Amino acid sequence: MKTPDLFEHERIGQREFLGPQAVVLRGFALPRVEALLPALALLQTASPFRHMVTPGGFTMSVALTNCGPLGWTTDRRGYRYSPLDPDTGQPWPAMPEVFAVLAREAAAAAGFDDFQPDACLINRYLPGARMSLHQDRNERDLGAPVVSVSLGMTATFLFGGLARADKAIRIPLYHGDVVVWGGVDRLRFHGVLPLKDDPHPVLGRQRINFTLRKAG
Ligand code: SIN
Ligand code: FE2
Repeated sequence: MKTPDLFEHERIGQREFLGPQAVVLRGFALPRVEALLPALALLQTASPFRHMVTPGGFTMSVALTNCGPLGWTTDRRGYRYSPLDPDTGQPWPAMPEVFAVLAREAAAAAGFDDFQPDACLINRYLPGARMSLHQDRNERDLGAPVVSVSLGMTATFLFGGLARADKAIRIPLYHGDVVVWGGVDRLRFHGVLPLKDDPHPVLGRQRINFTLRKAG
């Protein structure tokens, strides 16, 4: 199934359900982009983007950093959440208020009240970068949803089932879209196809995605 590429003014404000408790909120982050971008630029100066290695020994094509009390990391020993940036030895930068507010509002719009994220993973995709199918399951509290914000170049998001082999649908994610999944959909497999080289007017040749979670 492929969602038709609507004109932006028709898309904004639409909700597309990917499951009973999984929804794309089209353009939900757009009113906050002007606050999000400088906050993103600032936190990168403290904890720059870097390419981490998976437990299987592969270097991820996506570069990442984190903000908030806990940050997601991977190395040869496994995936985990850590209060410290392994590169700097310092705590991750504080979560900007605008991130937390956006996440709370998006979660509420998707039916998850009082979402209080303590972790924000920020992924940077350059052309060709991808994220293979996975579940988000390193969080202690699987009762809280995942809130995922897309900025910059358009990506094709894959949203599968609860088993890796289940067929995944493909959904384009545009600048300003927010995806929320929780409840019965919390452990759905998901990923991102290799990013096409189609520069974005504001962010250029990159896509920034950040996911907010309650990890601890
Ligand atoms: C993720 O699953 O961590 C990233 C999803 C995305 O980039 O849209
Ligand atoms: Fe994920």
